[in-house]
Amino acid sequence: MRIAILTGGGDAPGLNAAIRGVARRAFQLGDRVMGVKNGWAGALEGDLEELRPESVRGILPLGGTILGTSRTNPLKEPDGLKRVINVMRRHAVDGLVAIGGDDTLSVARGLSDAGFPVVGVPKTIDNDLSATEFCIGFDTAVTVVVEALDRLHTTASAHHRVMVVEVMGRDTGWVGMGGGLAGGADLIIIPEFEVSLGEVAEHLYRRRGDGKDFSIIVVAEGVKLAGLAPEGEEEGKKDAFGHVQLSKLGVGDALARRLEEETGFETRVTVLGHLQRGGSPSPLDRIWATRLGVTAAELLHAGKAGVIPIRRNGDVVTVALAEVVSETRRVPRDLYDLGAVFG
Ligand code: F6P
Repeated sequence: MRIAILTGGGDAPGLNAAIRGVARRAFQLGDRVMGVKNGWAGALEGDLEELRPESVRGILPLGGTILGTSRTNPLKEPDGLKRVINVMRRHAVDGLVAIGGDDTLSVARGLSDAGFPVVGVPKTIDNDLSATEFCIGFDTAVTVVVEALDRLHTTASAHHRVMVVEVMGRDTGWVGMGGGLAGGADLIIIPEFEVSLGEVAEHLYRRRGDGKDFSIIVVAEGVKLAGLAPEGEEEGKKDAFGHVQLSKLGVGDALARRLEEETGFETRVTVLGHLQRGGSPSPLDRIWATRLGVTAAELLHAGKAGVIPIRRNGDVVTVALAEVVSETRRVPRDLYDLGAVFG
């Protein structure tokens, strides 16, 4: 059997661990493995190359993806899915492992519905795929946020400042919530729960009143704050999946500026941006990327397709691809309320 592997969408630490898991298990099963370059772009253009055992040697601790990635969307290209299937057939590929988030996996689902065998692997630092308790890259991203908050605490305390920390999170606040809780943020602002600029200022006054002379605020990039219009373009350029570049909207900058104007408290902003996606994956990301990658290779080998291995109740479980892309998993109220205990 000949399988192919593709990584799509934003990169995330742990992608290489997953690629290695798929490839090593496939080799063990006697299968050959093709690497698709740059996500769906390579699948459309026929940019594939054979992976050999030495191709995946030493990549477990590496961030990024040895295959490259892109935000190309075949569903937006004329005959996109048909072209991908033709490319796969031309390269004698029997099945594809697509590693990605909701965008990549929606295309994978479309391909599977069109009759080509695909198995998914869940990846997104945003951690917002439904059904699965694990997405490659989230744990490492949270670790980056926590390290940043630990560092920012000491300088905030020394200068008695307000520190606004903008983290990734387009539609959901998992990174902000996890990073903020583990890093001891005083206020966590995420897309799921609305707050106004006035409420944030109120929070800062209350802390000062309680004798706390510095504050750390974590804000997710996708937050729309009532009373605050970010500097950047509201309707910037969109990618092939219809997303604007949120870092350009600058919610962190706008919030910091308006808070300083409003309260007079000296305020600084740190935008963590792509630091959250770079570098070496955490042990958890390596272990689960490996487990899910190995299972994906086994599923394709066994002729099972249109499915995705996920983590459920701590175990590897296989569900339909449609299940993980059916809805965006959001931070629940009880977890959000936990943050308020420490404000
Ligand atoms: O989708 C994952 C994500 O990390 C979002 O949180 C963020 O808005 C986006 O990717 C940034 O993507 P890009 O790499 O295109 O700037």
